[in-house]
Amino acid sequence: MTKPKVFVTRIIPENGLDLVRDFCDADIWQGEMPPSREDLIRHLVNVDGLLSLLTDQVDEEAMHVAPNLKVISNMAVGVDNIDIPAATALKIPVGNTPGAMTEATADLAFALMLSAARRIVEGEKYVKSGKWKTWSPQLLLGTDLVGAKLGIIGFGRIGQAVARRAQGFGLRVIYFDPAERTFQGADAVNLNTLLVESDFISLHVPLTEKTRHMINEKTLNIMKSNTVLVNTSRGPVVDSNDLYEALKSRRIFAAALDVTEPEPLPRDSPLLELDNCIVVPHLGSASKQTRDQMAFLAAQNLIAGLKGERLPHCVNPQVYS
Ligand code: GLV
Repeated sequence: MTKPKVFVTRIIPENGLDLVRDFCDADIWQGEMPPSREDLIRHLVNVDGLLSLLTDQVDEEAMHVAPNLKVISNMAVGVDNIDIPAATALKIPVGNTPGAMTEATADLAFALMLSAARRIVEGEKYVKSGKWKTWSPQLLLGTDLVGAKLGIIGFGRIGQAVARRAQGFGLRVIYFDPAERTFQGADAVNLNTLLVESDFISLHVPLTEKTRHMINEKTLNIMKSNTVLVNTSRGPVVDSNDLYEALKSRRIFAAALDVTEPEPLPRDSPLLELDNCIVVPHLGSASKQTRDQMAFLAAQNLIAGLKGERLPHCVNPQVYS
């Protein structure tokens, strides 16, 4: 029996690859960098399935070069790199990996929150550059979490996992959720109230036309001057230029970014020069266990689609109606 042809756009953890190889004739991109546009198009011709990553732009043109395409499985929870309406119109189910990375991403959001609040990155640079001479009463003073107010924007799985951690740290939690989900122990508020009242703001919304640049000059201007902004969602939710101005002028206390616009930031980005801005390389789901689970779920979605079965995690279930 001939196996279905699939393109896997990077080397993913072995448990996922094993599953893919068992069932498919797999073309696995070996590069450290993602395939270029031309390479993606070239490798898609005649495939039955695609296992993509968030670094691949899968648009209508890409879908059209593969007339046999039965499934797109994205090894990520976010699917803003895929043209979902185009896939739906072509009746191609799109899979993602929700749940797998909830706790790891919430951990990272908290790590960033603590790092920015307690100036850990600045402290480390201070020690390693040989500047530290003695304990000092006023050195690198940060801000407390206990008793502070955390505003969570986007209250899905990850936002709620951040709220659970916040309770253990003695933070008071408020949230704004466009989908109006509720959570015990936290108060739903409107966006304006959240921006005006929060000491910490953590972003957990998907990137959509509604959320693009929702953090901008106007929204930054109404935040408190002690605010710490944490972004582990998608870079373009925050306007980088406006954030730079707010941090540079100390309009807000600090930002900690796992995601940026663009991603990665260019070496000469002014954001990288600021002491009150921490930037890490999109590590939200980057634990061994989490990435293994994501690879496994992505492989399961891919294989289900190739078999003509319903994907375990499908973002466009309309394709089945
Ligand atoms: C990571 O950013 C993801 O969407 O999985």
